[in-house]
Amino acid sequence: MANGARSRSGTFYGEGGVAGFTHRAFTKQMGYDDQDMGRPLIGICNTWSELNGCNKGLKEVAEAVKRGVWQAGGFPLEFPTISLGEIFLNPTSMLFRNLAAMDTEEMIRSQPLDGVVLLVNCDKTTPAALMGAASADLPAILVSGGPALNGHFAGQTLGACSDCRRLTAEHQAGTLDTATYRAIEDGIVRSIGHCMVMGTASTMNSLAEALGIALPGNGAIPAVDARRLRLAAAAGRRIVALAAAGVRPSRIMTRAAFENAIMLLHALGGSTNAVVHLPAIAGRLGVDLPLDLFDALSRRTPRLADLRPAGQYQMEELFEAGGIPAVLRQLLPLLHGDALTVTGQTLAENVADAPLRDPAVIRTLDAPLDREGGLAVLRGNLAPEGAVIKHAAATPRLLQHRGRAVVFRDLADLRARINAPDLDVTPDAVLVLQGVGPVGGPGMPEVGNFPIPGKLLRQGIRDMVRVSDARMSGTASGTIVLHVAPESAVGGPLALVRDGDEIELDVAGRRLTLHVAGAELARRRAA
Ligand code: FES
Repeated sequence: MANGARSRSGTFYGEGGVAGFTHRAFTKQMGYDDQDMGRPLIGICNTWSELNGCNKGLKEVAEAVKRGVWQAGGFPLEFPTISLGEIFLNPTSMLFRNLAAMDTEEMIRSQPLDGVVLLVNCDKTTPAALMGAASADLPAILVSGGPALNGHFAGQTLGACSDCRRLTAEHQAGTLDTATYRAIEDGIVRSIGHCMVMGTASTMNSLAEALGIALPGNGAIPAVDARRLRLAAAAGRRIVALAAAGVRPSRIMTRAAFENAIMLLHALGGSTNAVVHLPAIAGRLGVDLPLDLFDALSRRTPRLADLRPAGQYQMEELFEAGGIPAVLRQLLPLLHGDALTVTGQTLAENVADAPLRDPAVIRTLDAPLDREGGLAVLRGNLAPEGAVIKHAAATPRLLQHRGRAVVFRDLADLRARINAPDLDVTPDAVLVLQGVGPVGGPGMPEVGNFPIPGKLLRQGIRDMVRVSDARMSGTASGTIVLHVAPESAVGGPLALVRDGDEIELDVAGRRLTLHVAGAELARRRAA
């Protein structure tokens, strides 16, 4: 395919005078020639990093994309952008998501590209890349690196990092010895790839299929399965056609596509972090996704995929059961099936023949795991602007609960007292953590699933109602109320809670209530 004279790369290489001369000369410096420069220039935006094991497979994925681009008559050039690895970043990766989005946006905008393939994997790399690509609005396809293989130990299937927390609690409670605890480290994350439960990375890389910005299959193909490289090569071929046709993210990621993504989120029992990331991506395209839309769609979207941390299975089983296309095919009666995708076909056309191979892992609409989706939005005098709970991963008997507050002012206070033998706490208390929102954290760290007090762990308690303005890892579970807004650091009512106050959680009624008189709250606020 010859490059169009009016394309961005055609303009760049065709410029007169010293500008065009240097553009061509400095491309020839890398061994390319006029024939290469006559093709559509496809940028491969790569978040590969050795400080991000989830994304460490992306060099090989990039080579597969290049193969596809060359096959289709394009000219691929790879470039790096910031990589955000959950495990290695301090104080929290969320603090850098928007920086990564700006990096992606400006590198796409400022270089003479005709289209771009976004290579991502770990939690924040996917929303950051989509935010940047949405703002730059050049033809784009997202390819993720895929989930890691299931972990194993002594016949058990393990999942990172749902089991990292579960096993640490058992070790702390004295039910798991230190030698076994350390031995499990060897095999719980046994390959490259992102966390293999339905955590935030699995969620966002799966939702990219519903958004139409990734090819069918992207969400669940394991990182080390050869089919991921074949998907990458297909994306390379496809982006050349999208660039030629000028099909931009703003045509793909429409309001209908975002509603499809939210419904898939609920059907998967996906991560609460999607409630933060999807509006950020949509906002770049002028699409407003209010919090109540998530709740309204949860009320009418059944949970179909039986995936940890809400369910039993992991990404490998989801893949073998048919992957995200099989889930989307089941959901089609509820979705906007006519939404355009990067395949050039509609979402409905993409998944029309998707086989469902294991109805234990992916349920049908007639026999769902739950008639509602996995997430709920709460409101009340403790969260006037809303709060979020992943009730699918909570303890059912705690979803309707009233208890006495035990308050921690901030993370330092939590660390200092949570395991104190004299902490005044009982299993029916409501644990409250203040000062961990976007301003207070800062950066809204993933600490909402803070630990059960040590003395209760040793009594066999494994879940309690916890309330904070933080986020939590998508791999975490428990009866955990998150994102309480306004946050305590900017004067939200959460800051006014004191030890002994009664807090009531009512998930069915979508309420979060602080049973303290208004006059007393006003007195505390004044003080
Ligand atoms: Fe990267 Fe979990 S640490 S996805």
